[in-house]
Amino acid sequence: MKREQFSSSLGFILAAAGSAVGIGNLVAFPVMASKNGGAAFLIIYAFFVFFVCLPVMLAEMSLGRHTRQNPLGAYTEIGQNRAWRTVGWLSVITPFMIGVFYLVITVWIAGYLGKAIMGQLDQLADPNGFGVFINSNELFAYMALVVGLTFLILQGGVKKGIEKATTVLMPLLFVMLIALVIYVLTLENAMLGVKFFLVPDFSKITGQVLNGALAQAFFSLSLAMGILITYGSYIQKNNNIVSAGKMVAGLSLLVACCSGLLILPAAFSFNPDIEISELSESSIGMIFMFLPKIFLALQADIGYFGASFIASFFFLLVFFAAMTSLVSIIEVPVASIMDGKGLSRRKALYSLGAAMVVLAVISALSFGRIDWLSNILSYGGNTKSFFDLIYDMFYETILPLNGLLLCLFVIYRWKKHNLDAEMSQGNASFAGSFLQKYVNFSLGTFIPVILAIIFINTVLTIYFGYNMLTVFFSSIGFN
Ligand code: PFF
Repeated sequence: MKREQFSSSLGFILAAAGSAVGIGNLVAFPVMASKNGGAAFLIIYAFFVFFVCLPVMLAEMSLGRHTRQNPLGAYTEIGQNRAWRTVGWLSVITPFMIGVFYLVITVWIAGYLGKAIMGQLDQLADPNGFGVFINSNELFAYMALVVGLTFLILQGGVKKGIEKATTVLMPLLFVMLIALVIYVLTLENAMLGVKFFLVPDFSKITGQVLNGALAQAFFSLSLAMGILITYGSYIQKNNNIVSAGKMVAGLSLLVACCSGLLILPAAFSFNPDIEISELSESSIGMIFMFLPKIFLALQADIGYFGASFIASFFFLLVFFAAMTSLVSIIEVPVASIMDGKGLSRRKALYSLGAAMVVLAVISALSFGRIDWLSNILSYGGNTKSFFDLIYDMFYETILPLNGLLLCLFVIYRWKKHNLDAEMSQGNASFAGSFLQKYVNFSLGTFIPVILAIIFINTVLTIYFGYNMLTVFFSSIGFN
């Protein structure tokens, strides 16, 4: 069967940007930036996006387009041995498991959207609202809705499913984001938030901040999840991978910045005396606990109906962002089963979907509903739930390892000249350019070293409660 392709470069760019733009950009980034030096953080983040993440992104896309395979197929075909095949497996199991936790979060967002539309904003803003909702039976109705929608999109395939959905949802998302930014900036005290987000304070940049910024940039671009290998395998040969990669990185950064102009002004208009340190580090805390309070407070100005409208608008925006990311991550194991077992898309989707839903239900029950699932394991000084376990193991730990292995694979197994040849297809001026030399050099040297450090530090921090980087930076007097 001939492999499907995106119909144009733009189709691929929107699909890949859809994957990259998620709750990471919309919520985690603005809070991180404002706590860690505003524009100073932004500059460093942008530097990491283009100088560390972009080469990895280009490598994944090239590997996918060259092999026309999912990650398992790509590692098997080029690796030619058991060890690389095992890495291939890892890069399919990882997105499968990340898909499970992302599905749960998307279901929460869908639930908040539904409740805001139904006029239950007051429940969402209640301090206990989140805990009650994630442990309610209603949740499973929303899960059915999200799973149904995801299936509907993925069943359409690359062109009629993924590309069609993202070419509608992504432009809508941009327009909605800009509309919300404009609205929020008109609120009283909004400029205080803008100031916090944009005034640079380089004294806040510590070793820890650098580490956090890099990890955030890396994960936010959907790297090391097999997504860009899989989507890359659907790019046409005459499309320019390099300029598409730059566009995707740029769009993701742009959304993150716009979102900063939304979240922080909103927080300050809610409470001009707010201490930035009060803002939750976690996206979950911000989206599901803090922001609903802000929306409800708008009722003083625009009434309950108006406040519910703005809240629904915001959750719809986040829901679109989450759906396009969810679709991209589930496509990885789906493509692997289709390629590897020769199954039809529909059969691959049903078998995988069933397994995923079972795991998502188990995760959803691990927030207190079933005791042993909620306290399944203790490590690093904390008791963890089934959901935490998936998050820690796959998102936090295995992702940087996958990234590291990918760099080594591309440069030392597939070899630089093959990577160059693939990147030069559809891009006549690439050969001999600065970027070509930079990509080759960085992927073979300092990028894998940085990823190795992040990996080791994460393992030590999460499982042993020992943060190697903090100790190191304070020993050299750099906090
Ligand atoms: N860019 C996504 C985000 O920021 O939320 C990263 C992502 C995470 C994509 C998980 C897909 C996914 F399943």
